[in-house]
Amino acid sequence: MPTGGPDAAGAPWSSGVRRRPDGEVEVAGVGVAALAADHGTPAYVLDEADFRARARAYRQAFEAAFAAVGTGVDVYYAGKALLTVAVARWARDEGLCVDTASGGELAVALRADVPGAAIGLHGNNKSDAEVLAALDAGVGRIIVDSLVEVQRVADLAAGRGVVVPVMVRVTTGVHAGGHEYISTAHEDQKFGLSVAPAADGGTSPALAALEAVLARPSLRLLGIHSHIGSQILDPSGFEAAARVVLRLRADLAARTGVLVDEVDLGGGYGIAYLPGEEALEPAPVAREVAGSVAAVCAELGTPLPRISVEPGRAIVGPAGLTLYTVGTVKPVTVSDDDATFTRLYVSVDGGMSDNIRPALYGAQYHAEVVGRASGAEPVLARVVGKHCESGDIVVHQVMLPGDVRAGDLLAVAATGAYGRSMASNYNGLTRPPVVAAVDGTSRVLVRRETLDDLLGLDLG
Ligand code: LLP
Repeated sequence: MPTGGPDAAGAPWSSGVRRRPDGEVEVAGVGVAALAADHGTPAYVLDEADFRARARAYRQAFEAAFAAVGTGVDVYYAGKALLTVAVARWARDEGLCVDTASGGELAVALRADVPGAAIGLHGNNKSDAEVLAALDAGVGRIIVDSLVEVQRVADLAAGRGVVVPVMVRVTTGVHAGGHEYISTAHEDQKFGLSVAPAADGGTSPALAALEAVLARPSLRLLGIHSHIGSQILDPSGFEAAARVVLRLRADLAARTGVLVDEVDLGGGYGIAYLPGEEALEPAPVAREVAGSVAAVCAELGTPLPRISVEPGRAIVGPAGLTLYTVGTVKPVTVSDDDATFTRLYVSVDGGMSDNIRPALYGAQYHAEVVGRASGAEPVLARVVGKHCESGDIVVHQVMLPGDVRAGDLLAVAATGAYGRSMASNYNGLTRPPVVAAVDGTSRVLVRRETLDDLLGLDLG
């Protein structure tokens, strides 16, 4: 067993994870036994330095790439991946803005003293209260998602006597995610306004919304927004979408004389979840996207817009792990067409309530026994939770030491994004704490829920 790092070569742990010579794993200098003793399990553990380094790397890569073609860029951390007050502060410290998707996320960003001007508010069905909270905070942008919303935000801003900067979210026909890349003329989904001509051949919904924004004095048309998907590993989708958005920008300028200042290309930068998987690296992808933005603008004869991007998963995903304690262990004999074999079912003290992604998306993860070294032969294992359904799987398939047993600490890698933020109280489980580890110490960012928290909501 290597002592310089965890077991599996190339496993997607954060940079502060290493296996000590005695076999115990540490995160940023804090041993997992101490983490478990101090904070209990399950617990989400964030490697603060790793988060900060990724945030910085994204900002610097995009700044360098767009400076090289002659324009500026803002990197918005997409808070939907994980937003706590401390996490918002880290993002801000590293020079990022914060993208929020609801009044709740907006409230967290404001609690962290993120200036309103550095916050964007998204959502396909924002409530009036959410829009008003954004107006009162002086957010730098509201991303509008429908014609109805253009009027609603305009009315609310007029009522407040303010002019609010807005971007119009458009659908480019480019949809990407995982290794898939599908191009369709009309997208059958709820977000954004299509750039394709209307059914009667008239103005596209996107152009109609942009013109509707221009018609309302309480709205300032800041730019056009496009988000094509998540966990994208092929950057060509970003370039294809940028091309469509830049053409739309030129079309709008030709029709109205207004050339919008900014184009937001959304998030979606993919990460590694399994040993040996490749992540999208910020520097090459930033260079490619900047190169094609510059080329398309040159073709169109339009000046470059300022660009913004919204990575979430790529910043916080690899920075987090989930620490569990093993409970029951059960060998199950499995027969498929070819063979009969044993799968070791390893139950942990959490499950689909703290990570719904395997059940929801069939997401794959990597796990290791982290509290001790083991010389036992590895066996085929499945890590499962404690919920009342068989789909409650944490890790579908992983090799674990054959002597894995109750009381062992087990960590699942790369759970920082969309773990805590999609957690639930299913089966009355209390949501785990978010703990930060840095420089040999740990602290609680979000405390563990208690049964009193659960019962306090139930008015009987
Ligand atoms: N910007 C917008 C407008 C978005 O809708 C999203 C994600 C992002 C940025 C950030 O995308 P990221 O860089 O994190 O991929 N729950 C799913 C992911 C849903 C993403 C929704 N929108 C999952 O667990 O994979």
